[in-house]
Amino acid sequence: MSEAQKQPRVYIFDTTLRDGEQSPGCSMTVPEKLRMAAKLVDLGVDIMEAGFPIASEGDWEAVRRVSEEFPGVRVAALARATKGDVERAATSLEKAKRPRIHTFIATSDIHLEFKLKKSRQQVLEDAVRAVELARKYVDDVEFSAEDATRTDIAYLEEISLAVVAAGATTVNLPDTVGYSVPEDYSERIGRIARLLGDRAIVSVHCHDDLGLAVANSLAAVKAGARQIECTMNGIGERAGNCSLEEVVMVMKTRRDFYPYDTNIVTEQLYPASQLLSSIITFGPQPNKAIVGANAFAHEAGIHQDGYLKNKSTYEIIDPHSVGVPAGKLILGKHSGRHALKERVKELGFEELTKEQLDMVYEFFTNAADNKKGFTNEEITEFIETALEKSAEKVS
Ligand code: KIV
Ligand code: ZN
Repeated sequence: MSEAQKQPRVYIFDTTLRDGEQSPGCSMTVPEKLRMAAKLVDLGVDIMEAGFPIASEGDWEAVRRVSEEFPGVRVAALARATKGDVERAATSLEKAKRPRIHTFIATSDIHLEFKLKKSRQQVLEDAVRAVELARKYVDDVEFSAEDATRTDIAYLEEISLAVVAAGATTVNLPDTVGYSVPEDYSERIGRIARLLGDRAIVSVHCHDDLGLAVANSLAAVKAGARQIECTMNGIGERAGNCSLEEVVMVMKTRRDFYPYDTNIVTEQLYPASQLLSSIITFGPQPNKAIVGANAFAHEAGIHQDGYLKNKSTYEIIDPHSVGVPAGKLILGKHSGRHALKERVKELGFEELTKEQLDMVYEFFTNAADNKKGFTNEEITEFIETALEKSAEKVS
């Protein structure tokens, strides 16, 4: 392992505003990108990819405004490996304090034959030329070998060495179509990381078509990658990109397996997720890890009982550490007396007798089979009925 690869620091490259934005229902206006960018700065991302300047005026403007208004963060602009794209990216970054040009070209035979209709040699020359041109404008140049995980490994090695010799400081090996699995990705990343040593940072960029984007990214870090490209809420092309909140929280929670450091302020994860949901057209699914509405909700009676005795029985992450106000107990058909009693207390009925509480529990279980859950108003109604009935008994 090289010196850089021995370091535990992993750079978080956020592409919510570029790869995330380029998926259905996620497009953002310039002001929306600026709002999200401010939150990503609070979150502590190292690099923020703000757009693909050649794609539209809006993307060009977004990169320009983000890089002007947030000088403390490294801002990346995406460009295909062509003169026009690289020059357009360079102009969008003119006011940036810490600019990065991120240039890419596909390297797999499938893409070469059907999409680019170019030979391996031509693609290699395009890549080198684009990196050399980008280096005329900025010192920080990232090269991505699109579809790297379906690229012939010897060719991937050749092109990686060539772009580094041309001035690339980061080499990204994307699993563009989400085809890789951890063992395969780790082997590939390890080979390139050993080959490049300290000459460049090796980066990973995983799509989630097989649900393995986070696992693949972590396997790659273990193999020597030191930059992870990811998005908030895992948004992105098709099944999305590696989820920032998940990959960061795995490293924080399981340091025994992943002893790596990031600069992420984890308390900002949930606020960032919420802000993104309010900007795009959808939020994370309720059972999404870390930021989903149910990520810290407990409904089963056995779980609720354990949780009320000690939270660590059923919570591996303190919700406050990711900015979620608190874990919550859901009252539904699987809930038990312990949780119901707690809710009754929270609703201000501290003095209920055991008999009254039993009555509330009976009303609750009778109704629970046909319900998806109960509101506080419904529980209050059960309590009031129980109180009335016990008063009738006494009189
Ligand atoms: O998935 C991909 O290959 C990309 C590149 C442009 C980095 O998004
Ligand atoms: Zn991508």
